[in-house]
Amino acid sequence: MRLILLGLGVVGRAFLEQLKIERRDLYESYGINPSIVAVANSKARIYNPEGIDTGSLIRYKEERGTLEGHPDEVDMESAGLVREIDAEVLVDVTPSNLTNGEPSLSYLKAALISGKHVITSNKGPLAWEMPALLEMFRNKGLKLLFSGAVGGGTPFLRFVKKCLSGERILSIRGVINGTSNYILNRMEEGLSFRIALEEARRLGYAEADPSADIDGWDSAAKLVILSNWAMDLGVTMNDVRVKGIRNVEISKELLFKGKTIRLIASADDSDLKVQPEEIDKSDPLAVSDALNAVSFTAEISGRHTLVGKGAGGRETAAALIRDLVELKMYMRGEKPC
Ligand code: HSE
Repeated sequence: MRLILLGLGVVGRAFLEQLKIERRDLYESYGINPSIVAVANSKARIYNPEGIDTGSLIRYKEERGTLEGHPDEVDMESAGLVREIDAEVLVDVTPSNLTNGEPSLSYLKAALISGKHVITSNKGPLAWEMPALLEMFRNKGLKLLFSGAVGGGTPFLRFVKKCLSGERILSIRGVINGTSNYILNRMEEGLSFRIALEEARRLGYAEADPSADIDGWDSAAKLVILSNWAMDLGVTMNDVRVKGIRNVEISKELLFKGKTIRLIASADDSDLKVQPEEIDKSDPLAVSDALNAVSFTAEISGRHTLVGKGAGGRETAAALIRDLVELKMYMRGEKPC
């Protein structure tokens, strides 16, 4: 299976490392023999039709701080690379742009035009054009898979689609941003918002510009993806009312009453919102640290809550590998489990 990898940050590197570790099992269990023929980031495009030695590529980047000047560097733009070269799958782990989905949206369209399946952890294109993208890929017999876009390694999307199939999902409520959840937990312990945010940054949960996390936009993008997937709502970012956690205070009185505050993303029919809400400390959504939790309410079987790590390089890489296995099963005409 010939793969193009766009993005060589924490997730991209973890994906390559995980592919190496799992190589034998992927082949013996699923017949997957991946060959990375191109890797690109915002600075350079690397292409080798025989397959790139990814270990030495990562070392090259670590030693020089850039891919520029690599012997296999080609003078092409990333979208052109995706369109032109011979590969079956585009793996897109570029950073999410939640304003308009670009440039990832153009990469996905380049893959579509040139008949490539896509595995992505980038939320931007899905937050803005998910219904159209899914339809276009389906019409061409191509897969667009995005387990890693919501919940890192925790399979929220797969759980609702595969485990609750045959039932209508009435509503979704979740904590789907690890950074803001970490900050709120530390504020419960008495830290100020500012100090808790600094700590989240130091621990690598928050981005250098953490506004998408704390102002609710990261949660909104994930809510759009979850609700389109589970409830078929056909929504975009414009349909979500968003309020972040900048002005939240967690008083001792509130905690004494057995309550706390979490940044809750919810979809009830087509009412989509992200906002800080008071919830009981005993609510399954009152998760600790940087965890994520999502409750799906199904028509017959009721509320189901899944909790897990919502971010992290290795965790997101696990979701990408899961998608690779699903894709292989699809290519072989088998139903994924
Ligand atoms: N910044 C995100 C979070 C990472 O804190 O949840 C995963 O999308």
